[in-house]
Amino acid sequence: MKGVIVFTIVTIWSNVYCTPCSYSPSQWCASLDSAIECGVLKQCLEANATKPKSQDSSVQVDLYFESLCPGCREFLTTQLLPTWVMLNDIMTVNLVPFGNAQETAKGKQYTFTCQHGEEECLGNMIETCILNASANPFQIIYCMEASSNVVKAGQACVELFDPTIKWDSIMSCVKGDLGNQLMHQNALKTGALKPPHQYVPWIVINGEHTEDLQNKAMGSLFTLVCSMYKGKKPEACGAALTRYHRGYCHDD
Ligand SMILES: *[C@@H]1O[C@H](CO)[C@@H](O)[C@H](O)[C@H]1NC(C)=O
Ligand SMILES: *[C@@H]1O[C@H](CO)[C@@H](O)[C@H](O)[C@H]1NC(C)=O
Repeated sequence: MKGVIVFTIVTIWSNVYCTPCSYSPSQWCASLDSAIECGVLKQCLEANATKPKSQDSSVQVDLYFESLCPGCREFLTTQLLPTWVMLNDIMTVNLVPFGNAQETAKGKQYTFTCQHGEEECLGNMIETCILNASANPFQIIYCMEASSNVVKAGQACVELFDPTIKWDSIMSCVKGDLGNQLMHQNALKTGALKPPHQYVPWIVINGEHTEDLQNKAMGSLFTLVCSMYKGKKPEACGAALTRYHRGYCHDD
């Protein structure tokens, strides 16, 4: 089961972004496309996720989204995760699944209604509980959002990317007070946005949302994060990223 998923993800990526692996082993994790070409994306993600980073000057990227919105899924899978893989040393990501949902209070509990129906509310809730439970939640959220069925993929994605977490504990969060309160926090955070969000995905960079930042992030989050980072730019920022960002295949 796990093997099938790894294989599927790697196959999807490598079909999109050229094959075969033309890198020497020491280079396998050097960039996202080499990791994909060499079929070791998962291993590189895990190795990289454990590295310390320079928090203070890192570029803060907050994404307000909802689990079934096609534009959110596209941004998460084609911009946010790839950029984070390359630049996790210089960026901090904060995901807030709620988006255009609404909440109503019933005593101390809240009920939620979502733009894309109950399935989306469930997806938002599962992702919220994963964000609360996992030290490395982004690959899991990516895995879900890249799957054809976001909600159904949840368990397999958790087992694949964070085996330390029991799916049962996620589901008891989803069904219990913890999930309810965490989702309420998401509602408050989303409701407090200035300017108020008008659509999703709604992107906030270093605490600021402008049309210009939104457009740049949607166009190439990678370029935006590199350009906004004040510290010494990592090598990846100077590298020829056009190679996969432009979607061409070069036979080098
Ligand atoms: C791993 O981290 C290095 C150094 O920060 C980075 O250049 C590289 O792109 C990362 N690769 C992957 C696949 O995460
Ligand atoms: C998970 O949620 C609880 C309750 O709000 C909170 O105390 C805890 O810090 C959260 N953990 C993480 C990692 O966000």
